[in-house]
Amino acid sequence: MHLPSFLWLWRIAAWSMGLSLAAYVVLAVTGAWMFFARQNKQQRPKWLRPFHYVIGGTMVALIVLLLSIGLIGTIGYYGNLGHSAHLPAGLTVVGLTLVSAWSATQISPKRPWARSLHISTNLVLFLGFAIVTLTGWVVVQKYLP
Ligand code: HEM
Ligand code: HEM
Repeated sequence: MHLPSFLWLWRIAAWSMGLSLAAYVVLAVTGAWMFFARQNKQQRPKWLRPFHYVIGGTMVALIVLLLSIGLIGTIGYYGNLGHSAHLPAGLTVVGLTLVSAWSATQISPKRPWARSLHISTNLVLFLGFAIVTLTGWVVVQKYLP
């Protein structure tokens, strides 16, 4: 199969990645807001938690979309997987995102570990995003004229 037929796929991927990074920034800001409101025993706006939740769900959907595009595009082009460090990087990001989303559903006063787990996985996720973007950028160079 020829690459031009795949270009539209990578274009969706680029948009999804941009939106994922934007979602991450919004989550970091609203998450930090909730965190400091709790530390300072201040009220937080009613919409803040559901907003964080919806943006979080959107980010999970985008990452799963990116995973499918990566897998389908690579299998369609090569017939198999595992062509660079981008594969482990991508799988790590998907794993971290799912752990983060699951731990978020567990956060409650009875389970203080869930909040720590949620916050730590999200800090590591930042590094994961950086690596997956870098390795993705490197493989894109192969296709550019
Ligand atoms: C993966 C998608 C995500 C979902 C579904 C999600 C959902 C949630 C939920 C339900 C809470 C509990 C709020 C509460 O009841 O106190 C929470 C807390 C928090 N989230 Fe997320 N979140 C996600 C991603 C992120 C990301 C990417 C960050 C930061 C970069 C983040 C930072 C935080 C922080 C700091 C808290 C703690 C707030 C506090 O201490 O009260 N979240 N998140
Ligand atoms: C969370 C974000 C991402 C995930 C989960 C992801 C996932 C994947 C996966 C699993 C593959 C198959 C790799 C293989 O089997 O070798 C792949 C391939 C690919 N990805 Fe990503 N990816 C992400 C972001 C990116 C970004 C930001 C770019 C570009 C800057 C990119 C460009 C590519 C390209 C060009 C391939 C084809 C692989 C090759 O030719 O070796 N990806 N992606």
